[in-house]
Amino acid sequence: MRKPIIAGNWKMHKTIAEAVDLVREMRRGLNAVETVESVVCPPYIALPAVADALSGTRVGVGAQNMFWAEQGAYTGEIAPGMLEGWCQYVILGHSERRQYFGETDEGVNKKAHVAFAHSLTPIICVGEDLAQNEAGETDKIVRGQVTGALVGLDAAQVSSLVIAYEPIWAIGTGRNAEPADANRVIAVSIRGAVAELYGETVAQAVRIQYGGSTNDKNIAGFMNMPDIDGALVGGASLKAESFVGMVTATARVRG
Ligand code: 13P
Repeated sequence: MRKPIIAGNWKMHKTIAEAVDLVREMRRGLNAVETVESVVCPPYIALPAVADALSGTRVGVGAQNMFWAEQGAYTGEIAPGMLEGWCQYVILGHSERRQYFGETDEGVNKKAHVAFAHSLTPIICVGEDLAQNEAGETDKIVRGQVTGALVGLDAAQVSSLVIAYEPIWAIGTGRNAEPADANRVIAVSIRGAVAELYGETVAQAVRIQYGGSTNDKNIAGFMNMPDIDGALVGGASLKAESFVGMVTATARVRG
């Protein structure tokens, strides 16, 4: 059975002090839930303080990105080795990275390989934009992103990573995908692509989240779907009440 995973992507929000306050507010409620994995992904600069505040709890920590080189003249970038020890997860290929910072499937793939070399589990983001959705291209786009991100990874690595299906038109818009539609894309286009590449056992092992305007009110609808294994949460992860509410609601539905 795939353990549900609810991850909060804080994006470019929270100073170090605010980040520590937020996890102090959340940690007891998150730690009380055993059947759902919870992860917070603060900005880089807050990672050590957040990791310290969460030490001794079952709450995981993730980075929002990293570069693929081990070190070097890459002004402003963060190397995988710098993250090691502070977090267990790293979000790769978020649509905002693709849109504003030129992230490509090839770059995501390079980063995924390096993540595993540094004991970091990638959360690989895929998803179509509104025009692609309306043109009926969702399956093609998402399959292409999944295939591109996984090149050269072995079956054990793919089984252990997380994929987040985040339709761009649903991110930060208050317009979430219908749970049944998200489930279909996840089952057919994402799990289906993994099955074609790696076989059914790997496809059944990989955890696939939905992301895009999820909150404590609508999460149960997604978690009732058989192929949705959790959520990558933006706005609703910035408040303790809503994020803890999402984790406890997931435990009620799936635990
Ligand atoms: P929202 O939950 O704010 O729509 O953001 C989703 C997202 O992009 C998480 O990575």
